[in-house]
Amino acid sequence: MIDTTPTEPVRIGPSILSADFLRLGQEAAAAERGGADYLHFDVMDGRFVPNISIGLPVLTALRGGTSLPIDVHLMIVEPERWVEPFVTAGANSVTVHAEATMHLHRLMRAITDAGAEPGVAINPATPLTALDEILPFVQRVLVMTVNPGFGGQAFIPAMLDKVRRLRATIDRVNPRCRIQVDGGITIETIRPVVDAGASLIVAGSAIYNDRQSVAEALGALRSAVSVS
Ligand code: DX5
Ligand code: ZN
Repeated sequence: MIDTTPTEPVRIGPSILSADFLRLGQEAAAAERGGADYLHFDVMDGRFVPNISIGLPVLTALRGGTSLPIDVHLMIVEPERWVEPFVTAGANSVTVHAEATMHLHRLMRAITDAGAEPGVAINPATPLTALDEILPFVQRVLVMTVNPGFGGQAFIPAMLDKVRRLRATIDRVNPRCRIQVDGGITIETIRPVVDAGASLIVAGSAIYNDRQSVAEALGALRSAVSVS
């Protein structure tokens, strides 16, 4: 039998964009009890993406209600203006889009200096070559597996090959860098993305839905990747 066990642990972060905001504290607690590795926090400005979501006051409240690491995904223009406030409000990692800033290298440094782990994200249509010069300097790359802006969209199958090609490059230039995927992750798509080389998983509607509890959903995603 072929050993397909991933070399690094798979970490799953529920995206609270799909949670019930009226009960955000309980939704975060359910993720923590259910074994989530981190919480994913989507910030949208209505300019970089065609939607507006949540920002600093919600992050501050969430920080006070969970001990899980909070992973902030900035889908905003001029992210450099907002790194420090989001880290101060409680972000443990901050991911910015390569498409949204002219000074990605400087921004990665600014995130580290502010006290969080930096990540760089690319949209489905952005070529991997956009990452060539920054890869040696980052510990995580987020490959968007849907067009950012909304939860509940369908996974774009062509992104599997993109993850695979990125993994091959990363293994050469910066093997400690992790690949994160975000968008359309379900019990059907999680295994293929992990096999392609992703180890940080974001899942919104597959975890927060009315079909199952948060713990059941997390368990189902984990078993989809743990069976060889
Ligand atoms: C989409 C956001 C995602 C979203 C994922 O723009 O970045 O984090 O919450 O939701 P699902 O898992 O439902 O596609
Ligand atoms: Zn996200």
